Amino acid sequence: MNKNSPIGIFDSGVGGSSIWQEIHKHLPHEHTIYLADSKNAPYGNKSAEEITELSIKNTEKLLHLGAKLIVVACNTATTNAIVTLRQNYNIPIIGIEPAIKPAALKTVSKSIGILATKGTLSSALFSATTREFTKDISVVEIIGEGLVPLIEAGNLDGPEMISLLKKHTEPMISANVDYVVLGCSHYPYIIPQLKEILPKNVTIIDSGEAVARQTKTVLQSLDLLREEYTPPKLQFFTNAKTDTLKFLLKKYSEKISVENCDF
Ligand code: SIN
Repeated sequence: MNKNSPIGIFDSGVGGSSIWQEIHKHLPHEHTIYLADSKNAPYGNKSAEEITELSIKNTEKLLHLGAKLIVVACNTATTNAIVTLRQNYNIPIIGIEPAIKPAALKTVSKSIGILATKGTLSSALFSATTREFTKDISVVEIIGEGLVPLIEAGNLDGPEMISLLKKHTEPMISANVDYVVLGCSHYPYIIPQLKEILPKNVTIIDSGEAVARQTKTVLQSLDLLREEYTPPKLQFFTNAKTDTLKFLLKKYSEKISVENCDF
């Protein structure tokens, strides 16, 4: 592992590429390797043991590919497996958690919504963070049932997606939330659709930028930032079809490679 080694990023599927976009924006010279475990998506309804096992598999693959730091670009994997990963691997590991704190600090209506998977909402890490920051406000937690499979299929704005989003946001709107926290790295891809449905005073927050900033800070502090400014190698591997990743990342198509591979 050295400064020129890649940043390794994994997710249960295509969603963490929203985090990759932020990382690439903040660290444009870094080589990156992204693993989309779409064959096993969604993680959100699996047990903590299964999620941990899959996270270990993805981490091993990224280490094998020479990663100098690993970003767990999946909320469900972070909340269920990051403690085990950090105990087992001697490499910096960055996770993604729902941005509950900024929403709780900024809410005026004293009511916030959180959209995440069952695996995230039921995890101990999530409960601890929510308890810590939301003592005097009400929190509407909604499981985004059905959203990840539609995003994995590249179906971002069909009637099925719109009707699911209306169903999931209805309790938040009734509770007068003024912040909606996205607790799944797939969901930034449906922000335009959510904005159409939510009242205009509602702010949507995701954690992509915070993860990218944290990644930069950690690399800087370990003196691991890449120093060569030749174009970086930006590799994406999926163990399912490549179509959705290519579609979501089409504005980068000239500079990235998206390949199918078994892992
Ligand atoms: C899932 O695979 O169910 C969603 C991934 C996430 O929580 O970010």
